[in-house]
Amino acid sequence: MKQDMIVVLDLGSTENTVLARAIRELGVYSEIHPHDITAGEVKALENVRGIILNGGENRIVDGKEVEVNPELYTLGYPVIAIDCPSAKCEKCYTNLPDKEALKSFVFDTCKAEANWNMKNFIEDQIEQIKKQVGDKKVLLALSGGVDSSVVAAMLIKAIGQQLVCVHVNHGLMRKNESEGVVKVFRDELKANLIYIDASERFLTKLENVADPEQKRKIIGGEFIRVFEEEARKLEGIDFLGQGTIYPDIIESGTKTAKTVKSHHNVGGLPEDLQFALVEPLKQLFKDEVRACGLELGLPREMVYRQPFPGPGLGVRCLGAITRDRLAAVRESDAILREEFARAGLDKTVWQYFTVVPDFKSVGMKNHERCFDYTVIIRAINTIDAMTASIERLDWDVLEVITNRILAEVPNVNRVCYDMSPKPPATIEFE
Ligand code: XMP
Repeated sequence: MKQDMIVVLDLGSTENTVLARAIRELGVYSEIHPHDITAGEVKALENVRGIILNGGENRIVDGKEVEVNPELYTLGYPVIAIDCPSAKCEKCYTNLPDKEALKSFVFDTCKAEANWNMKNFIEDQIEQIKKQVGDKKVLLALSGGVDSSVVAAMLIKAIGQQLVCVHVNHGLMRKNESEGVVKVFRDELKANLIYIDASERFLTKLENVADPEQKRKIIGGEFIRVFEEEARKLEGIDFLGQGTIYPDIIESGTKTAKTVKSHHNVGGLPEDLQFALVEPLKQLFKDEVRACGLELGLPREMVYRQPFPGPGLGVRCLGAITRDRLAAVRESDAILREEFARAGLDKTVWQYFTVVPDFKSVGMKNHERCFDYTVIIRAINTIDAMTASIERLDWDVLEVITNRILAEVPNVNRVCYDMSPKPPATIEFE
């Protein structure tokens, strides 16, 4: 283990990630763990230098105030409490400590070294992956998005040919996307890649399913089943690699915080899951994942490609998915991406996509009444996907995109621009 670590225990604060990031910004690695972690589990984390008990407004769970295991105080690590005064701690704060106080705790009290950087993180992860996997094989769900691509690069570096990448086309991919994944990973990076076209299977399962959580669970569950079927055909596969990142875990709900939405690779896992998971990015925020990808030598375009959710266009074809609306999402998204690239916006805007809601509105085409779908354009900027603000798009660019969508995409007669920041809206609609 190359890096010192400060453990943040979640005692109901809504600011756990702010605190962990503040510590990482000091150059010291920090992980957030549940309040009821055992002393043994803390010891197993290696290189822990101190513990912060991070209390807050969610500290009452099931009518009781959450508490830490008293045995944690006997481990000999310095402990401070924030907004949850405890006589057993060395220091107590009633609010997030300011930067100087945090620095003093981390460096003077805990004697942590500022040795958190991507090179060390990758070395640690590679060591852990080798230890976990041994001479077994890992099956990786390679969607081609930033997260799974970075995991693939990490796993290729750690275990080389023991990695088997599987790209499942669930029928909810963007235009020409699956073809691109095969080209980059099989042809250029020489990865061991299996391509499966499961479009019909997914779309049939999703017929008439309108509830967003249910859609996500079906897509996530079906995904794993496709992998299990594939794994049965292969020999000696015991592990499943996943591009789970930290915001996925938080938003799927912790012991003190409620579920915002189940993430495709967290809450959607079926209970009869047959694999142990390898998730080397699960402690990273999105911006850190990109830095990790660059450090692993992935090309810039790949690392800075906008994120694309696991359930794909399925969460952008709102309500029960129909093939005509799915086609409208796919075609309008392709136009949006083409025009953003033409205007240079692909380099500055963090994420941009189109959505097609499940309603029709009245319009006029060729002097006749029409009753067609609406395309909503969403373009946002963010650092870590936890909050987001809208891109103030140029009217001329918007108009070009709008006119192209109206002229080229069948069954659409209206285009809107989503002005909502996150919160209260999330980036995706479902
Ligand atoms: P939200 O909609 O939660 O999105 O504000 C935050 C970021 O996460 C992406 N996203 C996902 N990524 N699996 C993923 O790998 C998912 O199920 C998923 N859902 C949302 C979203 O596109 C945005 O960048």
